[in-house]
Amino acid sequence: MTGHLYVTRQLTDDAMASVAALGVPVVVGEERPPTTAELLRDAAGAVAIVSTLTDRVDAAVLDAAGAGLQVVANVAVGYDNVDVEAARARGVVVTNTPGVLDGATADLTLGLVLAAARRIAEGDRFLRTGTPWVWGPRMLVGLDLSAGATLGIVGYGRIGRAVARRARAFDMRVLATPTRSGLTPAERDAVEFRELPDLLASADVVTLHCPLTPQTQHLIDAAALARMRPTALLVNTARGGIVDTDALVAALTAGRLAGAALDVFEDEPRVDPRLPALPQVVLTPHLGSAGGATRSAMCGLAVRNVAAVLAGSPPLTPV
Ligand code: DGY
Repeated sequence: MTGHLYVTRQLTDDAMASVAALGVPVVVGEERPPTTAELLRDAAGAVAIVSTLTDRVDAAVLDAAGAGLQVVANVAVGYDNVDVEAARARGVVVTNTPGVLDGATADLTLGLVLAAARRIAEGDRFLRTGTPWVWGPRMLVGLDLSAGATLGIVGYGRIGRAVARRARAFDMRVLATPTRSGLTPAERDAVEFRELPDLLASADVVTLHCPLTPQTQHLIDAAALARMRPTALLVNTARGGIVDTDALVAALTAGRLAGAALDVFEDEPRVDPRLPALPQVVLTPHLGSAGGATRSAMCGLAVRNVAAVLAGSPPLTPV
């Protein structure tokens, strides 16, 4: 076979060993997100691209790779960084990594729900800055999750369902936007289904678990935020583009929303500088799937998808 494999530098060591075993020359990407020029250069002549969120695999990159390109294997369940239609039009298979990161992402989501509700990051900063303090009934008081708080899940897919299971263990009431995908009776019974406007108005904490698509871009805009309770919290571990950052900053600044916890941002890896300036916002650098075993599983699945396609077999998890 002529051509090489372009792989993101974010692959785990075990996945890199599997890549080497494929016997195809390998070009490894930059440590930081590659520039367009670097990606065009590294993808030129590739038979396979193993990408991650910060690799923007658009029509130009697909064309740079050329007619030999067979597969784009994205190391993520989301694939908004890949132009799937352009790939399809060129006969290139696109794969993602569903099913192996639901638990890790749901764990982080609950961590952020807790951090925002119980003001954990604020408490940590409070002590680090050496502020003199006396424990008292009013200090850093937050939202009790287990005293009947309501969680609203926007997107009741695999990750949303894993979040619901965890929230139920905290005795929360759980709402979810209606879904058509096959649910078990237990998954149906775990939540009350509500259309988005009603869910936004009824939840103490709203958490986002839908993909970023043209339909969900800025789904949480000024009008959606205005429907939320002024005491409510917004958690986003899905994609930054689902939330209109300008509208979020305005709502938080005006006290029309109590707080937010964000793991994802509109223009990653850049973080809008207005966000860290707000004490009621918890920020993490896209850690949703950042568990050791989870990352290994994601990378392993991506490489197995490449191996299957290059061997002429169907991919395991096509988009
Ligand atoms: C995904 O898989 O889409 C996640 O956002 C990566 O953490």
